[in-house]
Amino acid sequence: MRGLFFTFEGIDGCGKSTQLKEIASRLESRGVPVLTTREPGGTPVAEKIREILISPENSEMVNECELFLYLAARAQHVREKIIPALQKGMIVLCDRFLEATFAYQGFGRGLSLSFLEQLNSFATGGLIPDRTFIFDVPVEISGQRMDQMNKKKDRLEQNGPEFYEKIRKGYLFMAEKQSGSCVLIDGCQEVSRISDQVWEEIEKLLD
Ligand code: TMP
Repeated sequence: MRGLFFTFEGIDGCGKSTQLKEIASRLESRGVPVLTTREPGGTPVAEKIREILISPENSEMVNECELFLYLAARAQHVREKIIPALQKGMIVLCDRFLEATFAYQGFGRGLSLSFLEQLNSFATGGLIPDRTFIFDVPVEISGQRMDQMNKKKDRLEQNGPEFYEKIRKGYLFMAEKQSGSCVLIDGCQEVSRISDQVWEEIEKLLD
């Protein structure tokens, strides 16, 4: 028995986490067993790695170190939490996964995409999502939403709009390159309309 694996992606402030919660509650209300999780994080070891990654105190971290920490957290998360849940037949909803590494470390930091592909595949043991939802919003909107949240900026969020423009471009590139498995959604629409679009895709695979 194998469950289904869905990942939610986009630049910070794109609305992915809100959508993940809404879809989890729609699945739960139908009695479907759901696991919600996030990257970096999801297990005690990976959450500790997350703290290192997002702490603004670690501003001296080099891009190569950053990459390996994201991958280390992913390797643990996949084997300790995601695969066992899929083996139990659960629906796994994950806030960020593979595409975040291509967008942030590839497009944002300028690391080689083909190298990232090899490393990602090593970290995941070849696990790929059944569908990846990419929520697209302009960088100005993402910035306004993050300002409204009024939370302290983490290490990555301290980068300026140029960094986010590169990441957005990366996500759009990934969505086009993998149009069979990635679904690109306009994140500026009304929240319930966006959830309906995600739900429509999920329902197709549930049947
Ligand atoms: P979050 O704020 O969505 O929880 O993600 C934490 C930060 O980590 C966010 O700025 C995106 C970044 N990130 C990467 O740079 N590479 C990755 O592979 C992942 C999963 C996240």
